[in-house]
Amino acid sequence: MCSHKPSGNPMWGGRFSVAPDEALERINASIDFDKVLYAPDIAGSQAHARMLVDQGIISAEDGRAIAKGLDTILSEIEAGTFEFSRALEDIHMNVEARLAELIGEAAGRLHTARSRNDQVATDMRLWVRDRAGDVEAGLGDLIAALVDRADEHADAVMPGFTHLQAAQPVTFGHHLLAYVEMFSRDLSRMRDAVVRMNECPLGAAALAGTSFPIDRDATAKALGFDRPARNSLDAVSSRDFALEFLSVLAICAGHLSRLAEEIVIWSTPQFGFVALSDKFSTGSSIMPQKKNPDAAELLRGKTGRINGALIGLLTVMKGLPLAYSKDMQEDKEGVFDAAGSIAVMLAAAAGMVRDMSIDTGAMAGAAGAGHATATDLADWLVRETGIAFRRAHEITGRAVALAEERGCALAELPLDELQAIEPKITEAVFEVLSVEKSVASRTSFGGTAPANVREQIAWWRERLKSGA
Ligand code: ARG
Repeated sequence: MCSHKPSGNPMWGGRFSVAPDEALERINASIDFDKVLYAPDIAGSQAHARMLVDQGIISAEDGRAIAKGLDTILSEIEAGTFEFSRALEDIHMNVEARLAELIGEAAGRLHTARSRNDQVATDMRLWVRDRAGDVEAGLGDLIAALVDRADEHADAVMPGFTHLQAAQPVTFGHHLLAYVEMFSRDLSRMRDAVVRMNECPLGAAALAGTSFPIDRDATAKALGFDRPARNSLDAVSSRDFALEFLSVLAICAGHLSRLAEEIVIWSTPQFGFVALSDKFSTGSSIMPQKKNPDAAELLRGKTGRINGALIGLLTVMKGLPLAYSKDMQEDKEGVFDAAGSIAVMLAAAAGMVRDMSIDTGAMAGAAGAGHATATDLADWLVRETGIAFRRAHEITGRAVALAEERGCALAELPLDELQAIEPKITEAVFEVLSVEKSVASRTSFGGTAPANVREQIAWWRERLKSGA
């Protein structure tokens, strides 16, 4: 006599005689975090059920019941009345179990020619694809904000730094456009990633495909994919689309973090180049005078979480045999968290860029400090006297040392003292020693001259208009 009583998970209880250990349930269940996949999960099921009907695999009547039941579930989840159960592990089985409650027998036909393996791979691709679109929009907004501020300050001079030491004067517009370049590459990387990600795993089933006469082109098309994924093993095993998404986010977060660091530095009283309004400043609970750039600091800080998500998933995927292993369930929280982080980071960055007031006087005052036009003196010697650059460098070094000794700027050294260092120097040299002259002379392609900056801004505005 058979004493076997189905137990535990209703989806596969037939094979099991004892309920799962509480620790298994805790380590195994993903519903607490994968419930965010409900919309793509239901969309995937709708597409799958429709295709099953069209292919004559299930009846039209069952198809209608499934479609209606899934609609009900979608509205229950959106209304917050859906009861998620940990015993049902994940979003896929929570939805299917509720469907069975709602429509009975027919619910059991939905999983024909499908597995949770192709289902989850499809859900994740759809979810990540949507977030990629959000990131593109957020980047577009940040780029537009930077271009606007660059336009306002195309000819504001500021110190350009290397090693965070004053190097040569640059224009603030040029500095902001450097970030426009970075963020536009992030945007283009994200678009590239979406091109590769946009293949549909649905119908790969558990790993080997199915013997049912499914139409994978139809489900791919219904879900907005470019085509079905070609290899069923790859379709259920690969998460490089998520890795690529995280890589793009990590690079972008790095760029945001650098911008944030500059805002932190610029907004110190010591620099005073920019000030954030009360909208983007926080106070101190003990020091009444303080105004802190917390949002900028959090852009830097959140970069750590995004990098962590990337390294986490790279580590999860490393060394997994084909095809599906449950390790892959660990792809989710990092991706969800990183997507949430980048969204708020992009919004805060664009907000700060629009909000910050620029003290062009403080920037100009600092632009000449540290003998920032020394290169202009050396270049003048090369151009006007034919002295080789290496020697011009040395002569200029001596002039800088003299100015240091005198406690004055290069441009304030008397001509006869400059001539004592190098007799070929003439009055005309003072023409190039001002920071305005210095930046105006940097007209080589990609250089900092205001004229260049204006050209670049026009070019960016064209691109933004055409959505390129
Ligand atoms: N919750 C699972 C995940 O996120 C779904 C796939 C489960 N597949 C399986 N063969 N146990 O990966």
